[in-house]
Amino acid sequence: MLWLSPIYPSPQDDAGYDISDYRDIDPTFGSMEEFDALLAAVHERGMKLVMDLVVNHTSDEHPWFVESRASKDNPMRDWYWWRPAREGMNAGDPGAEPNNWGSIFSGPAWELDDNTGEYYLHLFSRKQPDLNWENSEVRQAIYSMMRWWLDRGVDGYRMDVINFISKDTNLPNGHVRDGGLSGDAMPHFVDGPRIHEFLQEMHREVFAGREGLITVGEMPGVTIEEARLYTDPARNELDMVFQFEHVQVDHGATFWDPRPLRLRDLKTILGRWQAGLAEVGWNSLYWNNHDQPRVVSRFGDDGAHRVHAAKMLGTVLHLHRGTPYVYQGEELGMTNAPFDSIEDFRDIQSLNHFAEAVSTGADPKAVLAALRVRSRDNARTPMQWDDTENAGFTTGTPWIAVNPNYKVINAQAEMADDDSVFHHYRRLIELRHTEPVVAHGDFHMLFTDHDQVYAFTRRYGSTELLVLANFSGHPTTIEVPDADRWQGTEVVIANYPVDATENLRDLTLRPFEGRVYRLR
Ligand code: GLC
Repeated sequence: MLWLSPIYPSPQDDAGYDISDYRDIDPTFGSMEEFDALLAAVHERGMKLVMDLVVNHTSDEHPWFVESRASKDNPMRDWYWWRPAREGMNAGDPGAEPNNWGSIFSGPAWELDDNTGEYYLHLFSRKQPDLNWENSEVRQAIYSMMRWWLDRGVDGYRMDVINFISKDTNLPNGHVRDGGLSGDAMPHFVDGPRIHEFLQEMHREVFAGREGLITVGEMPGVTIEEARLYTDPARNELDMVFQFEHVQVDHGATFWDPRPLRLRDLKTILGRWQAGLAEVGWNSLYWNNHDQPRVVSRFGDDGAHRVHAAKMLGTVLHLHRGTPYVYQGEELGMTNAPFDSIEDFRDIQSLNHFAEAVSTGADPKAVLAALRVRSRDNARTPMQWDDTENAGFTTGTPWIAVNPNYKVINAQAEMADDDSVFHHYRRLIELRHTEPVVAHGDFHMLFTDHDQVYAFTRRYGSTELLVLANFSGHPTTIEVPDADRWQGTEVVIANYPVDATENLRDLTLRPFEGRVYRLR
C-alpha cells in the first residue's frame, strides 16, 4: 500500500501538515483528475492508497479558522481553542498566555489574535491552530470529509498526531520542552480523557460497514498499555499505531541533543513492543519517515559500509512481527544530507529552533551541528531517481537541495544491480509473502545484553527463523544459542555470501552483517 504525506491545498508552513482545504489537491502536486488517475492506477496494480489525515489542527488559512477568528460570537468560534489572557494580566504582556505550554516548534503554544484580543492554541506552528474536538460539529465535519475521500476510493488513513485530539479542557499548566515531544504538559493532551470515545465514534461514523480499509494512528508518547487499547480489534478504534520510543532512543535531554545509539536500549524497547502487542493488537514497524533522519546514517554507516548497513537494517526491521513501512529512498539506502549552513534548511521545526537557540545565546555552529544530525530535512531531500541533473526529480529548481550522492545512489542504478539495497528490500517483502512465519510467528529476543549483536527467533507452527545482525563496523564473534539445531539449516536472506560449513558455535559476523536462517 502507498501512503501519501498531505497533498491537500496548503500554505506549506509545515510541509503540507497545515491544510487549508480538506477536499482538494494542492496545485503543486497536481489536480483532482490526476489524483483519481493515480488512485485507479494503484488499484489496477492490486495495491492500496492511504491518505494522511491531519485533523488535530488546520491551517490558519482554512475557512473554518478564518470564520472562527472573525469575532467572539461567530458560530465557529468554539471550533478552536480561544482563551483570554491570564487573569490579572493584559493580552500581549510577556507571560500573559493562558497557560505555559510551549509549542513543539519552539516558542509559546498560544498566539494572540489582535482582532479579538484573545489567544488561540497551537501545539505546532502558529499557522496550525488546534481544532476543538469537544465540539460535536467539528467532529461531524471531519467525519463527513473522511467519508467523502473513502467514497472516492481511498483505502484508509494515516492519522497525524491523532492521540493529541482530546485535551484536558482545563488546560492546566505544564511544560513542553523545546522541540521535543516530551515534557510535563504532555499528560494534558496525549491520550487525553475522551480519546478512545472519539476514535470509537469515528469508527462508527466513518469506517463501519466498509471493507478492506487500513488505519494507522501516529501517536507520539503512546504507551504499550494505551496501544493495546487503540489496536484491539474488539474495540473498533485503529488497526495499528506508530509509537515513538525506538526513534527517541538516541535523544539526550532534548530532541536537539543527539546521543550515540546504545543497541541494548533499542533491543529493550522493540522487544517490549513485540511482547506487549503479541496477544492483543498489532505493531507497525518503521525506521524512517518524513520526520526522522535517514536510518543508514543514524543507526548504520553511510560511508564505506553503507550498502551492508542499509540491507542489515532492512532485514532486522522487516523480520519483526508487525506491518513494515518503507519511506521513499530507504529502499535505496539514501543518506542524511550534507547541509552547510542554515540557509540550506527548509523545515519550520529546524528553522524555529535555530532562531530561538541563537537568540538566547547558543553558539550557531553547535546548533547547526545538532541540526545536521537531527533535522527532519535529512529525510526530505528530493527522491533520487537517476544520475541526471537534480537526480531526475525535476527539470526546475528543487525546493531543497538534492543530496550530491545521487550520482551513485539512485533508483535507476539500483534497479539494474541485482546486489543493490533495492533488490534486497524486494526480497524482504517477498519473504513476508512466501513465509507465513514472517507475518504471524512469535518473537523471542536473543543476546539482550550484547552491544553489537541484534538477534531474535520467530516461530510459527513447525517453521522457525533465526535472525542474526551485527550493528557495528567491526567483526564480532558469537556462539549461537542452540547452535546444533541451526547448524546446516538454510539461509533465506543475507547481505554477505554465507559459507554453509561455518561453525555456529564460533561464528564471526562481519561489519553490519545480517542473515536469516530457516528451520522446518
Ligand atoms: C506529525 C507529522 C509532522 C508534522 C506534525 C504536525 O508529527 O508527521 O510532519 O509536523 O505532525 O502536523
